[in-house]
Amino acid sequence: MNQSTAREILVTSALPYANGPIHLGHLLGYIQADIWVAFQKLCGVTCHYICADDAHGTAIMLKATELGITPEQLIAQVQTEHLKDFTEFDVRFDCYHSTHSEENKLLSEQFYQRNLTAGYIKSQMITQLFDEAKQLFLADRYVKGQCPRCKATDQYGDNCEVCGATYSATELLNPISTLSGQPPILKASEQLFFDLPQFQEALSNWLQSGSLQPEIANKLREWFASGLKPWDISREAPYFGFKIPGYDHKYFYVWLDAPIGYLASFKKLCAQRSDLDFDHYWQPHSSTEIYHFIGKDIVSFHGLFWPALLLGADYRWPTALNVHGFITINGQKMSKSRGTFITARSYLNYLNPAYLRYYFAAKLTPKVDDFDLNFDDFTARVNADLVGKWINIASRCAKFINQFFDHQLSPNNAAPELLQMCQNAQTSIAEAYQQRDFSRAIREIMALADQTNQYIDQEKPWILMKQTDEAARVQDICTVGLNSFRLLTLYLKPVLPSLATEIETFLNIAPLQWVDSKTLLFNHKINLFQPLLQRIDAKQIQQLMDPAS
Ligand code: MSP
Ligand code: ZN
Repeated sequence: MNQSTAREILVTSALPYANGPIHLGHLLGYIQADIWVAFQKLCGVTCHYICADDAHGTAIMLKATELGITPEQLIAQVQTEHLKDFTEFDVRFDCYHSTHSEENKLLSEQFYQRNLTAGYIKSQMITQLFDEAKQLFLADRYVKGQCPRCKATDQYGDNCEVCGATYSATELLNPISTLSGQPPILKASEQLFFDLPQFQEALSNWLQSGSLQPEIANKLREWFASGLKPWDISREAPYFGFKIPGYDHKYFYVWLDAPIGYLASFKKLCAQRSDLDFDHYWQPHSSTEIYHFIGKDIVSFHGLFWPALLLGADYRWPTALNVHGFITINGQKMSKSRGTFITARSYLNYLNPAYLRYYFAAKLTPKVDDFDLNFDDFTARVNADLVGKWINIASRCAKFINQFFDHQLSPNNAAPELLQMCQNAQTSIAEAYQQRDFSRAIREIMALADQTNQYIDQEKPWILMKQTDEAARVQDICTVGLNSFRLLTLYLKPVLPSLATEIETFLNIAPLQWVDSKTLLFNHKINLFQPLLQRIDAKQIQQLMDPAS
């Protein structure tokens, strides 16, 4: 491919809030995007993967106060922890930044100015609940009261969990601030609104652009049908965020500058890399591709506000949103009391991250369905597939090559059909990765592992080894096994990059690239096989699920 047609891709993952640890639910999305990016890179495609901490908002400000530190100290600590977790799970960002950065401040101001100049930002007086003790306007989640419809008590400021009514916080009966325990007062103030209704027509084109999974386009159409409303993008001091130019006490709402953080992170990467040009990716009609990987709970921000903000500020639209569902653990929502709120860190205390990456891949499809992480199924699947099928091929074959043939692979291809089949499978496996149908990729890879194990079962090298006139055939058979193992390792490399690296050392080969599926390995010296992966022991799961862990 020549320069003008080669793909250039930018991938983003949703920016995790800087007020808490990464948990298994978060990891689903980051690992999904990381696998997709790793696959592109293995194919030699130019692909950049960026993310950042989402560092602004009331929750972060309050958390810092509670800990007796500044918000800046809190977000610095959390960012270090987040990055450590991601790195240990082999999630490899090209740039990991923070929304509380100089790049993001400048870009947010630019987005604001451009939208303001174009007439998309209006100011309006509104009345909100105000906590006099704390001197704070109250976000919906900091107010509780009686549902205005069914009168149920103890309901939050946006909707009733008993009757399902949605309302605005000022409609709650007998409201109480959850921050001070005092009844809030009503207070009027001028706020800034992004005039979403002006984007009605543009957004209806966006919905038809093919950039959205069908179930997401449907969801957005529902919101659309119920009428677009202006969006409040300002928050009153005290707030942790960026000040709005021209106002002393107003800040950008965290959800305004959060997606702009994608551009800020990319800007930082461009500053580090002379071969990367920011405008080339983000200008209107750019030939590059941009994908946002996000969870289904933040679709309205990415599917309505974000394309409108981009358009209003004269930037291009993302190529697609890749939305994933929510994790449940053993069939239930993650919950601290049931011991199923599992952080990345506590997982790492007991289990190998490769298991989780594999299990996610084995079950992920391009759909938005929720994802059940059932630990019995997890254990069975990892033990049967990774240890029992894939690694088993290497341990069965390597011991003969290491012990009896001076680590040397045979010059002969004793099973051309089997190896041809393993090589041909690259087309269909690549297609599955490309479409984010990782579960299909894994199914096909494991079917090849089954065929290879059957071949070894039939050939019975352990019996041949005892027959002096047949011993040479053992080298041929094990060479077939290790060639298949090499190909399967390549196909699994987007999912299991660290194991693949260890295996490259064992096989004594250069880092595998996707084109290496075209070649086989004969007459080649390998290294001594070392055990690569342990089976999961039920005890490890028990320890992880112990609420005290
Ligand atoms: N800060 C916002 C995103 C801003 S993007 C411009 C946010 N942060 S979050 O920390 O709450 O979530 C980060 C990502 O993790 C989101 O994509 C969210 O959907 C995802 N998940 C959070 N909990 C999850 C599960 N239980 N299961 C699957 N994904 C989950 O939203
Ligand atoms: Zn109700």
